[in-house]
Amino acid sequence: MINQKQKKELPSLPPAMIAGAGGFVGSSVLSSIKEKFQQLFTPSRNELDITKPENLLKFLGKYSPKVIVNFAAFTDINEAEKQRGERKGSVWLINVGGVKNLVRICEDDKIFLIHVSTDAVFPGTNNFPGPYSETQVPPNNPGPLSWYGYTKLQGELMLTNSKARYALVRISYPFGHKNCPKDFVNKVNEYVKKGLPLFSDQKFTPTYLPDLADTIFSVAFEQIEGTFHVTTHPLTSPYEFGAYLAKNLAPNADIKKSQVKEYLKTPHYVPRPIHGGLLTKKTEKKLSIRFHSWKDAIEEFTH
Ligand SMILES: NC(=O)c1ccc[n+]([C@@H]2O[C@H](COP(=O)([O-])OP(=O)(O)OC[C@H]3O[C@@H](n4cnc5c(N)ncnc54)[C@H](OP(=O)(O)O)[C@@H]3O)[C@@H](O)[C@H]2O)c1
Repeated sequence: MINQKQKKELPSLPPAMIAGAGGFVGSSVLSSIKEKFQQLFTPSRNELDITKPENLLKFLGKYSPKVIVNFAAFTDINEAEKQRGERKGSVWLINVGGVKNLVRICEDDKIFLIHVSTDAVFPGTNNFPGPYSETQVPPNNPGPLSWYGYTKLQGELMLTNSKARYALVRISYPFGHKNCPKDFVNKVNEYVKKGLPLFSDQKFTPTYLPDLADTIFSVAFEQIEGTFHVTTHPLTSPYEFGAYLAKNLAPNADIKKSQVKEYLKTPHYVPRPIHGGLLTKKTEKKLSIRFHSWKDAIEEFTH
């Protein structure tokens, strides 16, 4: 990690492009790091569709970024599931084909690619339980994964099997973006307000978005290659997370528990990890950074 004094002494960041900068995670990271770049291109999907190689070539030919950060993805897990097995569907075309197109151009033009992925590439099953370290390789098997998770895994493989210089950054249940309904804290608040239950048997490690912004900045600044995990610690459950959050926001709330084990027996379930979570030790060491605990992150975000 670069400290403020070093930052001033180092040359400014090379021209960069962010795909998916208008989405939930991309817009949060963009608002934290945009001042640090002298030239930053943030095309909308209309201006730059990653599934269209000719579109990409034209855009990149015009602006010549040296770093690309990719947040663009098909992210609706329930909608994605309706396309299970379809390799011509929009989920595959964006999460696999789009990444393949970006990787090819980055290989050819020696552009450093930072690609954002998810804990959902890991199954979180009894046979292959988390939390997972940066060096753990997800089994290449669609069975226990959601279709979203499986396509994100195939996107990762486009990257890891390439000659591109890349950073693969996995995140999980992000929060820290006020007023965004997709934010995990806002989702949990909605559940609590409506008296809906939260899973108490699901293990996970949510990501605090300011930690992600710091990581993306460091990795882009020094073009550090590798696989990075950005999450809070220690391992928790949605119920435990929600109960702590409610203590701050709705002290008298009656928080109900449910079991992901039971959900996975329902007829139209979408696979999701029970024993999930990401480990961040190698990332924190490599970047000399310390991520928030989820309790500290909740305190910082809600005060
Ligand atoms: N949100 C989560 O819970 C979560 C958890 C783990 C990992 N992630 C990862 O974080 C990244 C960002 O997720 P998010 O939650 O911010 O998703 P999001 O809100 O759905 O944003 C996705 C962005 O990608 C753009 N996009 C979609 N298809 C595109 C295409 N063909 N060409 C160019 N841009 C395209 C969208 O543009 P339009 O809006 O115009 O379609 C949108 O700006 C994804 O890689 C996701 O897998 C998210």
